[in-house]
Amino acid sequence: MVTALGGAGGGTCGSGLKDIDVYNEMHGADKADGRNSSYVDLVNSYYNLATDFYEVGWGQSFHFAERWPGESFHASIARHEYFLALKLGLQPTDTVLDCGCGIGGPLRNIARFSGSDVTGVTLNQYQVDRGNALCREAGLQDSSRLVQADFHKLPFPDNHFDHCYSIEACCHSPDRKDVYAEVLRVLKPGGMFASYEWCLTDKHDQTNNRHLWSKKKIEEGDGLPDMLHTSACDAALKLVGFEFLEGKVPRAVPSPRLRPSLSPATTPLASMSPDVATGSPH
Ligand SMILES: C[S@@+](CC[C@H](N)C(=O)[O-])C[C@H]1O[C@@H](n2cnc3c(N)ncnc32)[C@H](O)[C@@H]1O
Repeated sequence: MVTALGGAGGGTCGSGLKDIDVYNEMHGADKADGRNSSYVDLVNSYYNLATDFYEVGWGQSFHFAERWPGESFHASIARHEYFLALKLGLQPTDTVLDCGCGIGGPLRNIARFSGSDVTGVTLNQYQVDRGNALCREAGLQDSSRLVQADFHKLPFPDNHFDHCYSIEACCHSPDRKDVYAEVLRVLKPGGMFASYEWCLTDKHDQTNNRHLWSKKKIEEGDGLPDMLHTSACDAALKLVGFEFLEGKVPRAVPSPRLRPSLSPATTPLASMSPDVATGSPH
């Protein structure tokens, strides 16, 4: 449960409650129904509170990464992003969508690395303002930008982007089919989509209270609705019309230099799983 008020917002959501109250109330319920149906308030109350803390404490990229022994934290974060760009085969002529972009750390790195033109969407207006200021500071305003939008209703025409990626963002959707279908709609035929997802793995046991507790704590700690099993994401991709190319659960790489809470080796019940799919012609 979040107990500190801070970050960008401390703002008031629809009901007149402060972000912190909205957030705690949603996670206080036994079931995920309220979090699923009010995902806009859930995401905005979370990121109004957390965005500045993330940037100061973690950096401009708001995601995890497999970290190899001896590798620095920032090198692992950058490698994770360049891996996606290479998987998508991004070229300088490509237009790319970042679906759930935070303040655009990955977007700027990928724009620089690939030379592509990258547009990010995030639900949170504070992130858009901060991210566009950082794009200008980096001199990247012509090749990268952030737009406020819900990724279930993308403000782009059909067949608009060459490729799309998403990093630990679609897990905020109460229904993965809706966001994947929207990504497919805005992709040009044959366009590729690659996503790092927060997922439950085969090791998750629904009858084990400790597993249920850790699932709940991840949802509370990351502003998530109900977390899904990896197979549910793969199935949703196929259902909406993607040709599924590959999915993988990251290797557990034990490292004495990682704090236990950050090590996949010690938190094997859920994982960030890169799913890579290619869009079939409309
Ligand atoms: C964990 S952050 C990851 C941000 C970014 N991908 C990165 O790695 O730095 C999740 C992001 O998803 C965005 N998000 C969540 N639900 C969304 C929605 N329905 N529409 C658009 N963005 C959303 C949040 O606003 C946030 O920017």
